[in-house]
Amino acid sequence: MLGKAQGDPISITGLGAYAPKRVLTNEELSTLVDTTDEWITERTGIKERRIAAPEEALTDLALPAARAALAQAGVEARDVDLLVCATVTPDMMFPTSSALLADVLGAPDAGAYDLLAGCTGFMYALAQAYGMMAAGLAERALVVGGDVLSRILDWTDRSTLVLFGDGAGAVVLERTPQRGFLGFELGADGGGGIHLSLPGSGSRRIEDATGNGYVHMNGREVFRFATRVLVSSAEAVLDCCGVSVDEVDVYVPHQANVRIMDHAAQKLGIPRERMVVNVDRYGNTSSGSIPLALAEAQRDGRLKKGDLVLMTGMGAGLTWGSGLMKWTL
Ligand code: UT7
Repeated sequence: MLGKAQGDPISITGLGAYAPKRVLTNEELSTLVDTTDEWITERTGIKERRIAAPEEALTDLALPAARAALAQAGVEARDVDLLVCATVTPDMMFPTSSALLADVLGAPDAGAYDLLAGCTGFMYALAQAYGMMAAGLAERALVVGGDVLSRILDWTDRSTLVLFGDGAGAVVLERTPQRGFLGFELGADGGGGIHLSLPGSGSRRIEDATGNGYVHMNGREVFRFATRVLVSSAEAVLDCCGVSVDEVDVYVPHQANVRIMDHAAQKLGIPRERMVVNVDRYGNTSSGSIPLALAEAQRDGRLKKGDLVLMTGMGAGLTWGSGLMKWTL
């Protein structure tokens, strides 16, 4: 799917993020599995990540992020008429986390649903909420992206354990005087889906129950896929919107691995200083990754009104998605 924004200008008017308090360092991980700080740093750029407390579930992380986004937008929860929550780790399959959040926030008029697109979830949710608003079906949307991947990791598997962390982010979408969203590109390749999977998590019976309920990943294949789509998806959306890569002020790729991100920035021709990097402190937070990075960039003053922002996510599915927007906050 590839398209340029048309119709009423719509933008992000509020942004919030939340990560659990508990910091898990590479040194601590090296006491749990056969790994070292040196290996993790060199291969991924990750130094530490946040891990949810046993009593914390997805909506506990999403709630403060959503409240911060609503506060920044100056929007009351009761005025939100669409709530999309992108996650692969909802509190439970149903009731959906979006329905729970709408209830706790006090958004009784919101159509609310969860969206499953792996680490690309936030980009899919953003595009979908934008589309619903552009079509006139919704007036004010709250888009949440977050995951508690620590719950679905095999804590004895060093090949996945060291990569992921927990976190959530949220944005409010409203009609604005100036155009924020300029275009989106989304894609999926189920043929490669097996390279990043959660066996036993749905209706497919798995005869060999070993490893059921835990993330399985073929790291090298996902690496190859990621370096390819981060470039092709970004180029597609830039081309569709008639924007040159030199015009991009802030580049926010999915925070999976600093090597993947550096490769993409270099291939695209985006100077490293324009790329937002926080994977060193949060690891890969799946659907939380892009909004957490946006929130940090905004807090640091690196993301300013008028900036052209390019975001690209990629992950399980295999899926990918890019969005191009002018920052209007
Ligand atoms: O949102 C999308 C989610 N996933 C990703 O983005 C992940 C994409 N893939 C990657 O980031 C990289 O493939 C990894 C970081 C997962 C692995 O890096 P790599 O450079 O591709 O390493 P590798 O898989 O080729 O493994 C190299 C060696 C292996 O040992 P041998 O076979 O060479 O003896 C692994 O067993 O490193 C070993 N290894 C480890 N060693 C220490 C794998 N994990 C670890 C570890 N600590 N945690």
